[in-house]
Amino acid sequence: MISNLLNTLIGTSLYCYFQLSASPFTVFIDSRNPILVSLFRSSAMAKDPVRVLVTGAAGQIGYALVPMIARGIMLGPDQPVILHMLDIPPAAEALNGVKMELVDAAFPLLKGVIATTDVVEACTGVNVAVMVGGFPRKEGMERKDVMSKNVSIYKSQASALEKHAAANCKVLVVANPANTNALILKEYAPSIPEKNITCLTRLDHNRALGQISEKLNVQVSDVKNVIIWGNHSSTQYPDVTHATVTTPAGEKSVPELVKDDEWLKSGFISTVQQRGAAIIKARKLSSALSAASSACDHIRDWVCGTPEGTWVSMGTVPAGLIYSFPVTCRNGEWTIVQGENFSIFPVVFPLMSSQGRS
Ligand SMILES: NC(=O)c1ccc[n+]([C@@H]2O[C@H](COP(=O)([O-])OP(=O)(O)OC[C@H]3O[C@@H](n4cnc5c(N)ncnc54)[C@H](O)[C@@H]3O)[C@@H](O)[C@H]2O)c1
Repeated sequence: MISNLLNTLIGTSLYCYFQLSASPFTVFIDSRNPILVSLFRSSAMAKDPVRVLVTGAAGQIGYALVPMIARGIMLGPDQPVILHMLDIPPAAEALNGVKMELVDAAFPLLKGVIATTDVVEACTGVNVAVMVGGFPRKEGMERKDVMSKNVSIYKSQASALEKHAAANCKVLVVANPANTNALILKEYAPSIPEKNITCLTRLDHNRALGQISEKLNVQVSDVKNVIIWGNHSSTQYPDVTHATVTTPAGEKSVPELVKDDEWLKSGFISTVQQRGAAIIKARKLSSALSAASSACDHIRDWVCGTPEGTWVSMGTVPAGLIYSFPVTCRNGEWTIVQGENFSIFPVVFPLMSSQGRS
C-alpha cells in the first residue's frame, strides 16, 4: 500500500509530504526529483506545545494524570505539552515532588513544568484546563457545606481562567460534585463560551463499556455507544439501548446479545452507578487511575474527534443545563447525538420521576 501511495505521489507535480500514522517518522517526497528525499523524526516538523493545567495535581488523580499527559495519552504521541500544576500551599512540597518525578521520567514530549500554588500563574496561557482540585467531603459535612467551599474555590479559578487562559481554552471539571462545580465555573467565567465547559462522565461511560465486555466476554474495544445520561452521581442513568458489539458477523445490538433484560435494568445499572463506592470500599481510596485515564479519553476525543460511528458521554452545558449526553466530536467541537429514535425523554425522565428526582 505504501509503495502504491509513493507511486501516486511521485506521479504528481506537487511537492508533498505525508506522515505515516502511529509512526515517529515523517516521509518526505519531492515529486520534482522522484526519489525518497528523507525519512526523519517528525520533530523536524514539531508542533507548538499545548499548555495543560491540572488543578489538585498533588492529589491521587493528579499523580496518575500528569504522566499520562506527558506521555501523549491525552493529546497524541506527536503533541508536545507544557504542564501547569496547581495545588494549595499545604500540598506545595508534595507538588514539587511530583515535578521532580516528571523531570526524572524524562518524557520526550514534556517541554516544561510549572508547579505553583498561585492560581493566576497556573492559569496563564493554558489551552486545556483539567479541574481536579476541590474540597473533599469530610465526615459530618453536609453536601451544602462542600458546595459552599467549592463555590469560593471555583469562583477564583473561574475568574483566573477567564482572564488569563488562552482564547478558546477547553475546560474539563473532574472534582466532585462535577456537574455543580462546572456550573459554578460557568457562572463565574461568563466570557468562556459555554460549549468550552464540560464535566467528566466518561469514567461512568468507560465503566459501562467494561461491564458489557465482562458480561459478554468480548474485548472492551469491540463495545461502543453506551450512554450516560444525567449527573456524575448515583442518579445517573447508564443506557445500552443503542450500544453495539463488533463481532465477526458484523455489529450486534448489546440488548440482543445480552438477552437478560433483568440484568440490564437492575444489576448493570446499579453496578455502574455504585462503582465509585465499590472502588472506595476495595481500595480505601477513590478511583484515581481510571478517572485519570477517562479524563485523557474525554479531552482526546474532544480535541482529536470521535471515531466514525462512535459517540461518547460528556457532561456538557446545552441551554444552561450541565448534563451528560451522548456526543460526537469534530474539529474540537462536540455535538449532541440526534435522531428520531433518540429522544432522552421516554428513557430518562420517567426513570428520574419514578425515583422521585427532579
Ligand atoms: N468525575 C469523576 O468521574 C471523578 C472520579 C473520581 C474522583 N473524582 C473527584 O475528583 C476529585 C479529586 O480526587 P482525588 O482522589 O485526586 O482527591 P485528592 O484529595 O487525592 O486530591 C485533591 C487535590 O486537590 C487539592 N486541592 C484542594 N483544594 C484545592 C484548590 N483550591 N486548588 C487547587 N487544588 C486544590 C488538594 O490539596 C489535593 O492535592 C475529588 O473531588 C473526587 O471526588 C471525580
